[in-house]
Amino acid sequence: MRIPNELVQQIQQAADVLDVVGDYVSLKKRGSNWIACCPFHNEKTPSFAVSPAKGIYKCFGCGKSGDPVKFVMDIEGVSFAEALRHLARKYNIEIPEVEYTPEETQRQNEIDSLYIALNFAKDFFKQQLQTPDGQAIGLSYFKERDLRDGTIDAFDLGYSSSAWDAFTKEALSKHYNLDILQKAGLTIVNDKGRQYDRFRDRVIFPIHNLSGRVIAFGARIMTNDKNQPKYLNSPETEVYHKSRILYGIYQAKNAIRQVDNCYLAEGYMDVISLHQAGIQNVVASSGTSLTKEQIQLISRFTKNVTMLYDGDAAGIKASIRGTDLVLEEGLNVKIVIFPDNDDPDSYVRKVGSVAFQEFVKNNSQDFITFKVKLYSKEIQNDPYRKSEVIKEMVASNVKIPDPIQRSVFRRQIAHLLDVDEQTLITEENFLIKKERVDYQKRTEKQQTPPPDSYPPESYHSFEDQLPEGVSFAPEETYAVETGSKVTDHSRSSMSYREEGVIRLILHYGDQVLEGTEDTVCDFVMRELEDIAFQTPLYQQVLDIFRSEWMNGRILKSEDFLRHPDPQIQDMTITMLTEKYTISDNWFNKFDIRVAHESDNLLEETYNQVLRLKQEVVRDKIAENFKAIQATKDINQQLQLLRVQKQYKEIERQIANILGNVIR
Ligand code: UTP
Ligand code: MN
Repeated sequence: MRIPNELVQQIQQAADVLDVVGDYVSLKKRGSNWIACCPFHNEKTPSFAVSPAKGIYKCFGCGKSGDPVKFVMDIEGVSFAEALRHLARKYNIEIPEVEYTPEETQRQNEIDSLYIALNFAKDFFKQQLQTPDGQAIGLSYFKERDLRDGTIDAFDLGYSSSAWDAFTKEALSKHYNLDILQKAGLTIVNDKGRQYDRFRDRVIFPIHNLSGRVIAFGARIMTNDKNQPKYLNSPETEVYHKSRILYGIYQAKNAIRQVDNCYLAEGYMDVISLHQAGIQNVVASSGTSLTKEQIQLISRFTKNVTMLYDGDAAGIKASIRGTDLVLEEGLNVKIVIFPDNDDPDSYVRKVGSVAFQEFVKNNSQDFITFKVKLYSKEIQNDPYRKSEVIKEMVASNVKIPDPIQRSVFRRQIAHLLDVDEQTLITEENFLIKKERVDYQKRTEKQQTPPPDSYPPESYHSFEDQLPEGVSFAPEETYAVETGSKVTDHSRSSMSYREEGVIRLILHYGDQVLEGTEDTVCDFVMRELEDIAFQTPLYQQVLDIFRSEWMNGRILKSEDFLRHPDPQIQDMTITMLTEKYTISDNWFNKFDIRVAHESDNLLEETYNQVLRLKQEVVRDKIAENFKAIQATKDINQQLQLLRVQKQYKEIERQIANILGNVIR
């Protein structure tokens, strides 16, 4: 599936920013730029500008910016690769599929066949709705539920008769392959080899993926028969992963982006009814509990989620679980609980669209108010239960990546539950520290342990030069599982150095260094031009900084808090939170000063960069030393020794400067 690099570049070069953006918004010329109302947020006066000269767009209202590929990613909600394919189609650039192995080709063919079969099934069920039987049974059911023809069409709703194998027979007669029909979850073959349709005697709700392809079906029975499941759904297939899709996302994605909010409901009918009432920014998790992937799907279009839940106990439980997950993904969450016995579908049909919106507006609660209200009865006379609730609230609160928002909520928790704010901070710090330990365990598992003989015994260890009691080894060493053996190993000092540099540019990247015209970022980028970080995560962050910096933009920590890669988000959160939760003592131990670095930014910047370089040189020395030991060729040895001498000299100079700069 990989697109070769040359082709990526070819597509990027072919994609004209005016042309690509112009497909979605109408642009007007203004000076050397073109402007429009921003497609990513709601506005009446244009603040979205396209610069053909620079090949980029930028919205001065919401801050979205990028090149044509980024534009397609954001507007279509697709991945980088998908955006490239989209542009390749637009510019008639052929992406050769030679990269497929035979297995991949077969799999791809199978996936294509599944899509085709599912699409055929969708059309079949739609046609069935128009047959005399379909009209009398299926269509009249939909009409009874107040659905209009346009709505039925927009959601591709259909009908399956009570015949055992009407669909399968039709599909086989059209030469669809039985194996594919089974793999698509449409046809079931029983022990006796009998083929029959999965969906019979039901109305059909096709489930679309982001680009509008049908990937699965939900099917509702039309009676109150309690002996059968109300809804039958497609099984997981190669194209349907229910934890990664939300019902209605295809029909809702534009509205979600425009309104900058996503309503999250529980059922098929909730989505459809609201849509029909003109409220189109709505999706449903469809009977499964909400997943991280589903929230990430929403977050491609908005950072604001309003959860709409039934007033029954199950609905409330579901929303509690869901809110924490939404918070964790860095989205804002509001909760609306409908009166008993009503769900969004029945409520909107009862009161109409205007009153519905009004209700949602007046009854949206933030998660704190929601939880406190929920527990208020049980904690009234039960201090033990109250402390549990406080803990739970704090646990939710620390999941919010934004420190400012967190402090606002903290104040609210303190107020509503009548506790001291300091108590909450203490509890938060405890949890954050715990989270940090877990995080380190996670990341360490991904790093390869250093080789046994590293550093070589004869290598003059830097640890020797450290004052007594100071060590580069972290205070806590964590048990890391390697295969079956449990061994202790700690992070390399290099990764601490790299972290120091990242921390510096995250916090102070845009600040100007005293007496120079350089920002911290300018200085770091220039100084580290030839240095590659060993920790992949830090290298990735550095790369992002660098590419934006080359375009004249200095990223802030906020940019990374919202980064789609959860690992980068995590790292940013850790770096921002531990600043004031880890004691000075801890930092002194590692010789990484953080708390007061802005007091003398110039010195700190210089210091961090030099320390990293020092570590790099040490690494080179160790590597070279190994090479010297490994070679038997005397000439090569002499050559390597000369190099070694140069490295040592650099190391000495750095140590000298550092000795003067640092106390
Ligand atoms: P509900 O029982 O609340 O149904 O289940 P609903 O959406 O209000 O449906 P109507 O109004 O009775 O038609 C919520 C969602 O849970 C899933 C469906 O996606 C449903 O929309 N569900 C429910 C199932 O998958 N299977 C079931 O048996 C029941
Ligand atoms: Mn319902």
